[in-house]
Amino acid sequence: KVLPVEMHKIKIIQQTRLPSADERLKAMEEAGYNTFLLRTRNVFLDMLTDSGTNAMSDNQLGAMMVADDAYAGSESFYKLEDSVRDVFGTQYLLPVHQGRAAEHLLAKVLVKPGDVVPMNYHFTTTKAHFTLAGGTVLEIFTDEALKTDSKEPFKGNIDENKFLDVIKTYGPEHISFVRMEATTNLLGGQPFSMANYKRIKEIAAENKVKFVLDASLISEQAYFIKQREPGYENRSVAEIIRELADLADIVYLSGRKSCAVRGGFIATNTKEIYDLILPWLPVYEGFATYGGMSTKEIEAMAVGVREMTQYSVASSSADMIQYFAERLKERGIPVVTPPGGLACHIDATRFLPDLSPDKYIAGSLAAAVYLVSGARGMERGTVSEQREPDGTEVFSNLELLRLAVPRRTYTISQIDYVVDRVCWLLSHRDLIKGLIFYEEPPILRFFFGKMRAI
Ligand code: F0G
Repeated sequence: KVLPVEMHKIKIIQQTRLPSADERLKAMEEAGYNTFLLRTRNVFLDMLTDSGTNAMSDNQLGAMMVADDAYAGSESFYKLEDSVRDVFGTQYLLPVHQGRAAEHLLAKVLVKPGDVVPMNYHFTTTKAHFTLAGGTVLEIFTDEALKTDSKEPFKGNIDENKFLDVIKTYGPEHISFVRMEATTNLLGGQPFSMANYKRIKEIAAENKVKFVLDASLISEQAYFIKQREPGYENRSVAEIIRELADLADIVYLSGRKSCAVRGGFIATNTKEIYDLILPWLPVYEGFATYGGMSTKEIEAMAVGVREMTQYSVASSSADMIQYFAERLKERGIPVVTPPGGLACHIDATRFLPDLSPDKYIAGSLAAAVYLVSGARGMERGTVSEQREPDGTEVFSNLELLRLAVPRRTYTISQIDYVVDRVCWLLSHRDLIKGLIFYEEPPILRFFFGKMRAI
């Protein structure tokens, strides 16, 4: 059993509030049973995401005060460039306003209509951008990936035979690149192994297919390799991060998740790739030395990139998630195992076995958990999918409720509170009857869609 010990002390706090049950019901109805549409004044514990909600360090806040405001040539940018070079070993840096902007630029220059983009698993914004550019996302995960109750330490692995098949079927010239996501968000923050990563790189290189690393949770990814992969126990998080980055042709990330509360970047050692993207940077993001970020955000990121190589940072959320998942599991709640990065995930299909997928199982559970606790999680299931052009529903492989654990934000007693409320809900789960859309946007419907309870 892990009992995480926080390797930091709390210097500044934000007051939070537990609304009454009546207030929660009213708020949920107004939000169309969509946790994205709740106001934080009605949220006790915000477990929607770790994106933009990780706690910052005193050094990050301090750095923000000395930001160098300039449209072009800002010293803040060069600090970030130095940090990224030291941590990732990359020469060229393209700053962007957040992770999906990096995906947009990659799609713009590398994804051609008719291309395929194989990957360990999609992320919502990734798939949207690559599909809008005319590409098709191919998920080539292993059989173990979708088993929510598992002991497999690396469910984020790519199945190498499926990758070889993709190359044979489509030809390397029709593959924009192969993408590995560290860690696979929608599978429950599951890592891949270094061995698998190296093998996929080898196959990609032999076939001249570019190898892209989505490093949005690279700190946790490196921590899991250290914890779970034989041969890496004595390697530092910094060394593992460097080893991962060294093998990738392109590294990109969401700064909101990894090293600051805003921003993102693309980094590479290949000048041709840099030259291909650079002209589009001012078109969509901003000049090459700010890319849509404020200089304060760039300063925070320059510090955060270095901090995420520290063991105490890499383990802070991962250990809390393990604690969260173990407490729930021992009380009979079906959680995704092994626990991954970014969040504790509840398998909604096993939590609500009598609900059919067309009733939006994970969405229903997300709403119910808010109603009983004031904690808001995020649906990661069919609501997060998109209908076929003819209107038929695409049922998600997994129906997960994600309860995010932002780094260094919540305490053990708050986690224990959520565990207690979720256990209460399990014994009253017959109250949950499902949801039905009454306002459904055509793309990324989970953000703004509104539903009512059946
Ligand atoms: N890649 C991964 C693996 C992500 O998890 C995210 C965002 C992005 C790319 C896009 O980055 O938000 O900075 O534009 N994940 C957030 C989440 C939204 O809540 O999991 P972004």
